[in-house]
Amino acid sequence: MAFPTETVYGLGADAFNARAVARVFEVKARPSFDPLIVHLAEPGEIGRVAVPDARAETLAARFWPGPLSLVLPRRPVVPDLVTAGLETVAVRVPDHAAARALLRAAETPVAAPSANPFGYVSPTTVEHVIDQLGDRVDLVLDGGPCRVGLESTIVSLLADTPVLLRPGGVSREDLEEVLGQRIASPTRADRPLAPGQLQRHYATRTPLRILPREAGRAPEGRVGLLALRDNPRAAGFAAVEVLSPDGQLGIAASNLFAALRRLDALSLDLLVAEPCREEGVGRAIMDRLRRCAAKPAAPGAELPGPRGRR
Ligand code: TXA
Ligand code: MG
Repeated sequence: MAFPTETVYGLGADAFNARAVARVFEVKARPSFDPLIVHLAEPGEIGRVAVPDARAETLAARFWPGPLSLVLPRRPVVPDLVTAGLETVAVRVPDHAAARALLRAAETPVAAPSANPFGYVSPTTVEHVIDQLGDRVDLVLDGGPCRVGLESTIVSLLADTPVLLRPGGVSREDLEEVLGQRIASPTRADRPLAPGQLQRHYATRTPLRILPREAGRAPEGRVGLLALRDNPRAAGFAAVEVLSPDGQLGIAASNLFAALRRLDALSLDLLVAEPCREEGVGRAIMDRLRRCAAKPAAPGAELPGPRGRR
């Protein structure tokens, strides 16, 4: 079933039931090399699926429930399909009353990707889910619009230096402060472990370009503008979406995907997006915009190489 979280809507299945998890991949048309995040009702359940270290305990105590996923060594009970055959598993406790009520009632960890067709923008309202997957899921739980609006931050704790696999709702600055440790950016070697890191992902059908600065006159054609704040200088656009009247990054993040979807529904020639500051959640906003703007790769070019399955 699809269910709300504070970040985006998820498409959940019993994490210990490989057949149910297989259905999730099928419904999303998601490649099986892309592992799922396992959702828990309580931080104390982490040991059911993963092997936490002291840093994991510290981060969980500070940020759970919340938009942070931790990549840790897995327990063998987790089906290979959930982890794409990796020896690791991503876990988080969502900060949403309905999500946690569901997780408690299910009495099992729930593996859930975002509830959108693979590669498309994640859903932040129940309408987004129903539009795209409504006829393919058994149940959709309505929890209203998602507060954060961007997917969770993913941090890998496998090496001495933690790695930020995906910027998201919890900022790198906050993580570094709580850990008292620098967090590294992913290297080439980390990339296949984070297919959400595919160059083109979170993408609209309409091509999108990121502007170097605030928009002025629209370029030729029917162009939509994704403005960071009210912009009286913008002129000639076929449609304008303002993410936050006064440019507040948290508000911009929570509106980003819904605004992208509205612009994408207009069949325009091009979307242009104003850039935002690369700090706090601004990093996550720019990360999603860049992936949306990336050219489709040559077929197969982004697929990770063969990986040993257990
Ligand atoms: O906010 C979120 O994280 C949402 C809500 C529903 O919780 N979920 C979400 O799931 O965004 P999904 O599947 O769309 O993105 C999960 C990302 C994928 O890019 C996947 O590669 C990465 O997490 N991931 C999962 N397990 C991993 C692992 N063991 N190692 C590295 N990356 C992992
Ligand atoms: Mg996703």
